[in-house]
Amino acid sequence: MILGILGSAAKDSVSREILLRAGERLTRGGSRFRLVDLAVEFPEAHRLEEYDEPPPGSQTAQLRALAARCEAAVLATPVYHGSYSALLKNALDHLTGDALAGRPVGLIAAGGGPRGAGTACDQLRTVVRALGGWAAPTHVATTAADLVSGPALDFLDARLDALAAELLSFPARAPDSS
Ligand SMILES: Cc1cc2nc3c(=O)[nH]c(=O)nc-3n(C[C@H](O)[C@H](O)[C@H](O)COP(=O)(O)O)c2cc1C
Repeated sequence: MILGILGSAAKDSVSREILLRAGERLTRGGSRFRLVDLAVEFPEAHRLEEYDEPPPGSQTAQLRALAARCEAAVLATPVYHGSYSALLKNALDHLTGDALAGRPVGLIAAGGGPRGAGTACDQLRTVVRALGGWAAPTHVATTAADLVSGPALDFLDARLDALAAELLSFPARAPDSS
């Protein structure tokens, strides 16, 4: 299963649209794509007192189970004040430091202007490293204008193709025996 984690709560979210376009490509290899809409499914702040032993069924336990099962992940975020969203960071703070170990991770960011989305992806690279994951070299830094049919959309799709190819070419890890 490939996990797509959406860090936007916006109704017509650009990052959701791009994440879905990535998901389309990632399922061509036969994997299932599981979109996690954090604003709907996991909106609660993480609880430090549950970090070591999350109660069964808690938001922390559910997020950890999803991360443990995935063969790859894609993080998609809006750009908020030059960075990624608090909604996404909150979800990642539920996880332990090995949560994405041995798995490739794709990065997508949508900004309102021409600057910021690349920075948000680069900032997420350090978070992915802290979780043991392997951030794919190609990220998709974008804005709503890229979704208008024409050369910008063609270029966006080419970046999504490259990202999907990198994620799908990552060697599969041995099945989790725990
Ligand atoms: C609080 C806030 C801060 C924002 N800061 C930035 C920013 O620093 N740079 C930028 O390019 N866009 C910024 N934006 C615009 C959003 O990144 C843009 O609307 C984007 O489409 C959001 O992604 P989404 O549609 O997936 O939610 C900001 C929007 C909000 C609400």
